[in-house]
Amino acid sequence: MEPLELLYEPAGLPAFPLAQELAALYPGTLGFPADCVYANFVETIDGVVALPGIPRSNRVIADASDADLFVMALLRACADAVIVGSHTLLASPKNVWTAEAAFPPAAAELAELRRRLELPERPDVVVLSRRREIESAALGDRLHVRSDVVDAVAELRDRGCRRILCEGGPTLFGSVLEAGLVDELFLTVSPLFAGRGLPLVEGVELLPDRRIAASLAGVRRHGEHLFLRYALER
Ligand SMILES: NC(=O)c1ccc[n+]([C@@H]2O[C@H](COP(=O)([O-])OP(=O)(O)OC[C@H]3O[C@@H](n4cnc5c(N)ncnc54)[C@H](OP(=O)(O)O)[C@@H]3O)[C@@H](O)[C@H]2O)c1
Repeated sequence: MEPLELLYEPAGLPAFPLAQELAALYPGTLGFPADCVYANFVETIDGVVALPGIPRSNRVIADASDADLFVMALLRACADAVIVGSHTLLASPKNVWTAEAAFPPAAAELAELRRRLELPERPDVVVLSRRREIESAALGDRLHVRSDVVDAVAELRDRGCRRILCEGGPTLFGSVLEAGLVDELFLTVSPLFAGRGLPLVEGVELLPDRRIAASLAGVRRHGEHLFLRYALER
């Protein structure tokens, strides 16, 4: 894979010790404050993140970008825990939400990053569902099902999980956004129009009454794909 190109990054971001191979592919800095909830999505130019009923809709949305998978892997490698909505789990029940599963060519470097960050081999995975009948053979006892996202994040923090990655989908993202829990958003914009499908945020009404704004914390480019990093105002 060709490296991403750094177009903009503000000074003063926390910087984790990436191995040279990872730093070469992801120029600039990557790091998080001690307690942080960050989300990662890929969307089309017209803001669509999922095409209900279409197999492998995420890859279609991402236009099969390897760089998107690489960034996903890097973000997973920094996480103590990953939270997902039940529909996202059911859309890909074999998903294990590990860094190496997203980008196997850098498995060794990603595992090394987790060691440097003193993280366990794999993140915990919390599935949000009010139905509690979720099962995933792939995740076994690392899978936790919770029915309230605010409580789930508090419980993770009590257990020492400091950096929590929200991998969607848009309904779960809407509820964590509305709860004021999101610190950062990593958003890949793929060079496609969808014309249909689910937008990045579902199920909550924000504007005009609720203003949630963000500042740019990074812009990278890989071919025609843009990789945006936003820090949300708290
Ligand atoms: N493009 C991307 O980057 C990306 C990322 C992730 C997912 N996706 C796609 O998005 C689609 C799924 O999105 P979605 O919006 O339909 O579903 P979702 O957000 O994955 O899951 C929604 C479900 O999660 C549970 N849930 C959400 N918020 C909750 C809360 N605050 N408390 C308790 N439970 C909560 C509920 O489960 P119950 O109904 O079980 O109660 C809800 O019905 C899939 O196609 C997936 O592939 C795309």
